[in-house]
Amino acid sequence: MIVAVAREAAGENRVALVPETVARLIKSGVIVRVERDAGIGASFPDQFYESAGAQIAPTKAALLKDADALVKLGRPSDEELGALSKGAAVIGFLSPLGAPQYVERLSKHGVTALSMDAIPRITRAQSMDALSSQSNIAGYKAVLLAASALPKFFPMLTTAAGTIPPAKVLILGAGVAGLQAIATARRLGAVVSAYDTRAAVKEQVQSLGATFLEIDLGADAEGAGGYAKELSAEQIETQRRFMVEHIGASDVVITTALVPGRPAPRLITAEAVRAMRPGSVIVDLAAEAGGNCELTQPARTAVVEDVTIIGVTNLAGSMPYHASQLYSRNVFTLLQHLIKDGKLNFDFADEITKGTAITHGGEVTHEPTLAQRAAAVT
Ligand code: NAI
Repeated sequence: MIVAVAREAAGENRVALVPETVARLIKSGVIVRVERDAGIGASFPDQFYESAGAQIAPTKAALLKDADALVKLGRPSDEELGALSKGAAVIGFLSPLGAPQYVERLSKHGVTALSMDAIPRITRAQSMDALSSQSNIAGYKAVLLAASALPKFFPMLTTAAGTIPPAKVLILGAGVAGLQAIATARRLGAVVSAYDTRAAVKEQVQSLGATFLEIDLGADAEGAGGYAKELSAEQIETQRRFMVEHIGASDVVITTALVPGRPAPRLITAEAVRAMRPGSVIVDLAAEAGGNCELTQPARTAVVEDVTIIGVTNLAGSMPYHASQLYSRNVFTLLQHLIKDGKLNFDFADEITKGTAITHGGEVTHEPTLAQRAAAVT
């Protein structure tokens, strides 16, 4: 069986498999081909892959000829799909929600498309959960960006020149990224509070030493698969009004609130931004999905009324070494799960295969999960 590791599109420094994992795959009997310079942006030069036993392919055609699986971070390009044999597998963050035309293209090519963002959030699949491994990095890095943009210390300091109070950090959305942001901000000595619509998160927030803010929205906002449901316009309005005061009292706000397949909820209004002290910082991790703050500009940093609003995208990609290492382990575990007798085997009775496969045998196979997610939206 041949597994091909492609170079990502410009601007993406991560690589889907790192040399350590390549060596483990080769040990299990798999042939691994790596496109020239695929790992360079993540500090894994070709010679590391060669030492691990991989073949370096100089062109996409050489990489993909007779390959059984193409592994990537992003979506395979038309060139890559065209060079793959019918029946080959593609693995990556395919983001099928809201992209029916791309899913259609995948099925037309006859590939079995496995989307790393569709891995079920179940205990058995935790080691394959690439959304979590990458969100963890984003949560950590968001705090570092905020700390470096803030014209203040995070920790309380007692010095000969006087005492510095600790920074106040508010985290909106306490999923994987939010919880890591809480932990990181606490390690830097900030006073942290957090809010999430899912009541189940309260204990996790408190166990990290942060205060959990509570708003009565009149209903539990937990939907299918542990994800949040989209709130009604009135609930969002209640939340926004409640938040203005807390946002205004914070030096840093880090927002991570997302609802699968929907635009990010707008939690921070322009009025709330104006309530912040000059020099305050907002890091909006939901920028790619439209932003949790109405003044966020995706992929840009804006300064509005002396408040720095960082609309960063692909934050995990800004720490490519460890992001690639963790993603690579996620992909390795998925491959291990799928390989039977030296070949990829797709058992659609298995929850992980069924949840992750987007297309198979020329058919779109992901519809039930899409419907489930849509049902979570009320
Ligand atoms: P996500 O990235 O989809 O959303 C981030 C957070 O935003 C979530 O906690 C969500 O509740 C929150 N949110 C949505 N709308 C909001 C609003 N209006 N105001 C405030 N917060 C809002 O979530 P993530 O991090 O991907 O986690 C989703 C779920 O999956 C969680 O329940 C998590 O615990 C669970 N999970 C389970 C795993 C497993 O069992 N293998 C692994 C990782 C996550």
